[in-house]
Amino acid sequence: MLVPVETEITDRMSFPVHELVARRWSPKAFSARPVEPEKLRSLFEAARLAPSSYNEQPWRFIVATQGQGAEFERILSTLMEGNRQWAQHAPVLILSVATLIGERTGKPNRHAWHDLGQAIAYLTLQATELGLYVHQMGGFDVELARQRLQIPEGYEPVAVIALGYLDEAQGTSMPPRNRKAVEDLVFSGRWGQATEGF
Ligand SMILES: Cc1cc2nc3c(=O)[nH]c(=O)nc-3n(C[C@H](O)[C@H](O)[C@H](O)COP(=O)(O)O)c2cc1C
Repeated sequence: MLVPVETEITDRMSFPVHELVARRWSPKAFSARPVEPEKLRSLFEAARLAPSSYNEQPWRFIVATQGQGAEFERILSTLMEGNRQWAQHAPVLILSVATLIGERTGKPNRHAWHDLGQAIAYLTLQATELGLYVHQMGGFDVELARQRLQIPEGYEPVAVIALGYLDEAQGTSMPPRNRKAVEDLVFSGRWGQATEGF
């Protein structure tokens, strides 16, 4: 369903977008409510279906739920303090990992990060559809994650993702969007050339 521009959730948007895109944001207040295993399965199914260069699917995920105790702590312990403070309350943490070497060529796959990000975007929109929220974090210790989670050579920890339901008791709602203007991002035909109302 397309969301018209004048609704509250599309605040400061210029053109209508899908409601899943409009509704998504990255909260810090997560409810303790566990995420149903079948919903987790759907999220990774969505990630799995993302496109990738030569269909290499250069994405891997390490998941831990609060209920897993030590496993959860292990991912949590790699986060920077500022992130750890709020992410400790999320019911699920995920470490995303890129496969750096192409299976086809045996050489570095320069699209691995691009493809992994795309898989996360799929996961995130599926999460939104299921009433879940995702908050991605680059603020973690990559080397610590590599050691503590036993990531083999040729794989790169990319982001930690907090996932869960919103803690509505904290009265959290989507903050105002802060985005560059589309004119500063999209050019016509060559770098820097303004588009003319396509
Ligand atoms: C790769 C990546 C790394 C991020 N790292 C952090 C982080 O370490 N800590 C944090 O609080 N938010 C982090 N964010 C969240 C962004 O700050 C957030 O997506 C951005 O401000 C836009 O807000 P929105 O997602 O609510 O629309 C990260 C997002 C991405 C995609």
